[in-house]
Amino acid sequence: MPTSEAVRQMFGAIAPRYDLLNHLLSAGVDRRWRRRAVALSRAAKGDPVLDVCCGTGDLSFEFARMGARVIGSDFVPQMLVRADAKGARGGSGAERPRFVLADTLSLPFERATFQVVSVGFGIRNVENLDAGLAEMARVLAPGGRAVILEFTTPPNPAFRKLFGLYFHRVLPRVGNALAGVKTDAYTYLPNSVDAFPDAPQLAARMESAGFVHVKYEYLTFGIAAVHVGEVP
Ligand SMILES: C[S@@+](CC[C@H](N)C(=O)[O-])C[C@H]1O[C@@H](n2cnc3c(N)ncnc32)[C@H](O)[C@@H]1O
Repeated sequence: MPTSEAVRQMFGAIAPRYDLLNHLLSAGVDRRWRRRAVALSRAAKGDPVLDVCCGTGDLSFEFARMGARVIGSDFVPQMLVRADAKGARGGSGAERPRFVLADTLSLPFERATFQVVSVGFGIRNVENLDAGLAEMARVLAPGGRAVILEFTTPPNPAFRKLFGLYFHRVLPRVGNALAGVKTDAYTYLPNSVDAFPDAPQLAARMESAGFVHVKYEYLTFGIAAVHVGEVP
């Protein structure tokens, strides 16, 4: 697991092309995944939502679109600059998310502040997974829900093999080449997914962090999954 400092540097470097590559390398499927995460969160209009590791804010904007009051947090300023710029272009009529610089391992919020805390493709990069989950639980109000959208290991062995060819052979070459800077961020991506707990293991880690009623749903043949857990 890379240190927080290494993760900061990596995302700082790829921030300018992050959105473009996200949509390109996932063939636009990431938008559908974010919408599904918002639906499974059962967030209601007006609910206070914190989207940690928000990057350029795509998941935050998805919550704002359905009427939630959203704060997005990330520890890389270059990502937040882009999130702010997208918000300024907005024009959807929805209330704009507010973006704040914050480490997910030490959130600048009182306990029990939010109804939903979300994280999209972020928790895998947090230096200490269990501490990150505990911090998400801390800022959730009783009955509030954490929603984790993350790449995972496809459960079907044949599909896993097929997807592995794309994920490990094609994506790193294309991603690193198109990132616009010298980076191995798109080699790190599949390697970090391999090292990350699979869906049942992540559910167990959420339970250990104090979440109850933990459920997960695979997306697109198990390339990604959405986990939802509640604080008692
Ligand atoms: C792959 S991006 C995901 C961005 C966004 N959530 C999305 O769905 O596109 C991961 C983000 O997590 C952030 N991150 C990683 N560790 C973090 C930490 N400890 N605290 C805050 N942000 C962190 C990185 O800066 C990066 O912006």
